[in-house]
Amino acid sequence: MVKCDIKDKGLAKKGKLRIEWAEHDMPVLSQVKEKFAKNQILKGKKMSACLHVTAETANLVRALKAGGADIVLCASNPLSTQDDVAASLVADYGISVYAIKGEDNQTYYKHLVAAVEHSPVVTMDDGCDLVTLISSKYPKIAAQIIGSMEETTTGVIRLKAMERDGALKFPVFAVNDALTKNLFDNRYGTGQSTVDGIIRATDFLLAGKNVVVAGYGWCGKGFSMRCKGMGSNVIVTEVNPVKAIEAAMDGFRVMTMAEAAPIGDLFCTLTGNMHVIRPEHFSKMKDGAIVCNSGHFDIELDLKGLKKMAKKEIKNVRNFVDRYVLQNGRSVNVLAEGRLVNLGAAEGHPASVMDMSFSTQALATEYAIKNKRKLMPKVYDVPDEIENWVATAKLKSMGIAIDKLTPAQVKYLVSWQEGT
Ligand SMILES: NC(=O)c1ccc[n+]([C@@H]2O[C@H](COP(=O)([O-])OP(=O)(O)OC[C@H]3O[C@@H](n4cnc5c(N)ncnc54)[C@H](O)[C@@H]3O)[C@@H](O)[C@H]2O)c1
Repeated sequence: MVKCDIKDKGLAKKGKLRIEWAEHDMPVLSQVKEKFAKNQILKGKKMSACLHVTAETANLVRALKAGGADIVLCASNPLSTQDDVAASLVADYGISVYAIKGEDNQTYYKHLVAAVEHSPVVTMDDGCDLVTLISSKYPKIAAQIIGSMEETTTGVIRLKAMERDGALKFPVFAVNDALTKNLFDNRYGTGQSTVDGIIRATDFLLAGKNVVVAGYGWCGKGFSMRCKGMGSNVIVTEVNPVKAIEAAMDGFRVMTMAEAAPIGDLFCTLTGNMHVIRPEHFSKMKDGAIVCNSGHFDIELDLKGLKKMAKKEIKNVRNFVDRYVLQNGRSVNVLAEGRLVNLGAAEGHPASVMDMSFSTQALATEYAIKNKRKLMPKVYDVPDEIENWVATAKLKSMGIAIDKLTPAQVKYLVSWQEGT
């Protein structure tokens, strides 16, 4: 029976068009879907997925359902749900969905609980919320889980901490760490969609502006690269000395947040860390500075600290823009309530990049089921054969051919005798 807690089933028509539009740019996932429809790898298996409820995710869930899964989907972020997509999944594809854009924290957790109470044997997470809840409060369900897939950097960090503490009860695949995921999704997906979210929310001109990027990992690199391409003067802040050198040699100014605060026009955090921008930084910012986050959780900006600095009511001045007027008379504009700006104010990553991430997710799921007897309660990397399959299929869909090693090259590469 299809169950749901969504905004409005009447939005299904628009959602279906969006799902089909995304599907067109997901040729690799379509192949996986056809394969699953034939091999029925998930037949009779209960699955719960806690992911951003977007058109791309809808196509992943459809592929898993085609493989026989009895799947329930809930949101992995209170602000990232596309309500029309949620409606279409329920009305057109018979998938149970618990997600409403803008849901409060209580509803968010109610939806997570509904996904857990589906009693899954396979789970998918974007940020580890489902695994954390199952591991801490549902020991019987934890004991039946064959495998779990994790989509993002923050989730993998939490899972590795659970593994270290002996709290991980079942095998998990770090899909985020696959190159077919982070090289493209984190870099080009977050890079482009973060610019998209900022522009949709503010109509901000990037050319000629000082853009401060906190964190020079894959996401920060992608965002910096896109802002530079649109004419911004990019400043990077980092805590890792190697990444800081990389940013400097990529041509960006590197400095501390304290130095960057008074000169930035736009600030974006992409670190996976907490309180990267704090009251001591907000107090130095120019009047009208724009601040946002594109890392996983809404704690990268110390919004509680900012609220305490505000003179009076915080004013919603545009969709996804809250203006805080500070006691020093200057104002700071926060986008998307400090949550992921690319999913809150825009549509998240383009389908073409999610094609690889979600094909990797789906094939890691197949691998976990096929190898369930060999797997331990550990964080596993996605096997190379899956990455190579996904990359080869993507290249083919792009009409790009690459060279093959000759027999002599294969021999040379494994030998050590040949030198100068
Ligand atoms: N917006 C999205 O759709 C999206 C997509 C993928 C990943 N993410 C999230 O974005 C975050 C970053 O992901 P990533 O793959 O780039 O991670 P990463 O580990 O490659 O990079 C994070 C960088 O932030 C730096 N950092 C940590 N604390 C800092 C601080 N206080 N100041 C400045 N720099 C600091 C680290 O040194 C590191 O270089 C994670 O939370 C991840 O889950 C978001």
